[in-house]
Amino acid sequence: MSIKAIIEKFQAELDATQKVADVLNLKAHILGKQGSLSEILKGLKDATPEERKTLGAEANQAKIQIEDLVTAKISAFEAQEINASLLKTKIDFSLRDSIMDKGLRAGGLHPVHIIQREIEDIFVSMGFEVLDGPHIEDEWHNFEALNIPDTHPARDMQDTFWFADKKHLLRTHTSTIQVRGMKERKPPFRFVGPGKVFRCERTDASHEMCFHQLEGMMVGEDVSIGHLIYFMKTLLSEIFKREVEVRLRPGFFPFVEPGFELDIKCLICGGKGCSVCKHVGWVELLPCGMVHPNVLKAGGIDPEKNNGFAFGLGLDRLVMMRYGIDDIRHLHSGDLRFNQQFKTF
Ligand code: PHE
Repeated sequence: MSIKAIIEKFQAELDATQKVADVLNLKAHILGKQGSLSEILKGLKDATPEERKTLGAEANQAKIQIEDLVTAKISAFEAQEINASLLKTKIDFSLRDSIMDKGLRAGGLHPVHIIQREIEDIFVSMGFEVLDGPHIEDEWHNFEALNIPDTHPARDMQDTFWFADKKHLLRTHTSTIQVRGMKERKPPFRFVGPGKVFRCERTDASHEMCFHQLEGMMVGEDVSIGHLIYFMKTLLSEIFKREVEVRLRPGFFPFVEPGFELDIKCLICGGKGCSVCKHVGWVELLPCGMVHPNVLKAGGIDPEKNNGFAFGLGLDRLVMMRYGIDDIRHLHSGDLRFNQQFKTF
């Protein structure tokens, strides 16, 4: 067989291969000891010197050609394999859009969470820690340690979801975090504790069985009402992005003495009186006060040496004021049309 014919036959066989192993077999066959090209090279010994020269050069040329063809074919198979596996594992960057086409929507932060994070950031920048606490509490943390004994009428202020054992409950306020926070640290300290709270209440546009508070507490040797006013004023000015005026009115909570209701000068009318502030010029915003000595004691702190302030900020009202939401029940409705409006990314 001439070299030309050998190469043509090889090319045809190569075209018919299905995988890399076939190609390698074919190569071994043609270039191997028994291979057709080797036969030709072996035959050179009987040829004339001239023939040997040309034939030898041709055979070497053919060998190089065959090697090139083999390399090219193997690369082609490898490329095919890579492409196939890429197709299998491919990342579809248009997936998000195709999900959107199917009517699904990307998630976002809940408005309560947005405000909670903002307020946490403000307090962290003022040196406060952020603490968490359990939703299921015992009577001691929710009431007794907060100076609300068993028979105290203040227990009625907070309609409680009790568990069947009559000892555990869903926390009615985040003040439980005060108790846990005090027990775990030594004065001076300051922290906030945001979270869900639960009350067994009839729901309406401004009442929910589950709502959100952010508790705050600062304890040290010379903590005064002045500190309380300073931190509240700073917080509220940051939240409302302008200077706010605050005032304290007496308010009763067994765990603070004295206790206050903190009002801010109406941001809508500037204090002149409008429908939002019910024409008094002030809006009630949060309850607070100086921590009662019994509460400090329950938290393992000596009330002779230390004192402190505490406050409980209702987050839902702030969210509703910020976003103009007229019914608190929207917040837990799970209605995507509602949640979708606060998407933050
Ligand atoms: N825990 C109180 C409530 O939920 C609010 C409060 C907190 C009042 C801290 C004073 C100080 O009603």
